[in-house]
Amino acid sequence: MKAFVVDRYQRQAALRLADMPTPEPREDEVLVEVHAAGVNLLDAKIRNGEFKLILPYRLPLVLGHDVAGVVVKVGPQVRQFKVGDEVYARVDDFRIGTFAEFVAVKEASLALKPRGLTMEEAASIPLVGLTAWQALVDKAGLGKGQKVFIQAGSGGVGTFAIQLAKHLGATVATTTSTTNVALVKGLGADVVIDYKTQDFEDVLRDCDVVLNSQDGKTLEKSLRVLKRGGKLVSISGPPDPEFGKEVAAPGFVRLLMRLLSSGVRRRARGLGVGYSFLFMKASGSQLHEITRLVEAGAIRPVMDRVFPFASTNEALAYVEAGRAKGKVVVRLK
Ligand SMILES: NC(=O)c1ccc[n+]([C@@H]2O[C@H](COP(=O)([O-])OP(=O)(O)OC[C@H]3O[C@@H](n4cnc5c(N)ncnc54)[C@H](OP(=O)(O)O)[C@@H]3O)[C@@H](O)[C@H]2O)c1
Repeated sequence: MKAFVVDRYQRQAALRLADMPTPEPREDEVLVEVHAAGVNLLDAKIRNGEFKLILPYRLPLVLGHDVAGVVVKVGPQVRQFKVGDEVYARVDDFRIGTFAEFVAVKEASLALKPRGLTMEEAASIPLVGLTAWQALVDKAGLGKGQKVFIQAGSGGVGTFAIQLAKHLGATVATTTSTTNVALVKGLGADVVIDYKTQDFEDVLRDCDVVLNSQDGKTLEKSLRVLKRGGKLVSISGPPDPEFGKEVAAPGFVRLLMRLLSSGVRRRARGLGVGYSFLFMKASGSQLHEITRLVEAGAIRPVMDRVFPFASTNEALAYVEAGRAKGKVVVRLK
């Protein structure tokens, strides 16, 4: 099968279009014919070697985490899916490889594609949708009447998280640049801060939850817009010791995580707020919940561009440039 692979870790390096063996699904996996694959910054970061310590992959590696497609083969233990089902997933770490004609996916990570969405739209959802879910629902327990600050509302995570937070009954504040103000308002954001002309610290206070996705300076300021007892969930680091435990990282990596996050954890304690790092995980059951919200019309995918499969490197470069409005997807079928 045709696939885009990483031969060695290097910034900006092009993925190589290679002929790779079609993966053989394990007993608890299905083989999916890929119709569309979502592109994420995680793909670029892995290619750059930034995740070597946390996700020690063997090279060459077929890249890509998000898929929508059709089941063409099922392992003997698979119960919920059959050949011909239209499905979507954020595939598991160490089983990635959606920038390819076929990918093997664990049954537990898969869900039926929402009715009414194209394959491209479905492929845009899993990684960012699950990130928003695990940050706002699992980590923060966001609920009705609470105030949440979601940074970068016009990005992949932001466009989904705004809609999920509104569905949960929260008041949503977000940051974006001037050109995207109408987009985030259209998604339901109540307070929109144009980061080109305003400092969110001058506008926001007493938030219950912050979803942090930006740099260290933004993280520091974000601690100060929370009320006492509020929670900051960061998806852009630094990783905390809990995360090290969760992924069973080796001792020296755990120590590194403890050190990297010691400053922000100390300052959070001083302010009486919570700090936690999230690295999202594959989950078919949460994706099933997301399917229901999409089918009910509570959440819609926001698409920026669809690239042909042959232009996967261009798609990755476009995402890396950091200006995407919603999601970028490559189409295979
Ligand atoms: N830990 C995890 O599990 C996890 C999961 C998903 C993503 N992430 C990370 O979270 C970050 C966001 O991911 P993403 O997929 O949402 O990225 P993305 O879609 O590439 O984000 C692009 C958007 O960010 C906006 N933006 C850029 N700088 C900004 C700023 N200073 N303030 C407000 N908005 C700004 C841009 O809007 P303008 O053009 O208007 O500036 C653009 O719409 C990345 O670092 C990604 O790696 C982590």
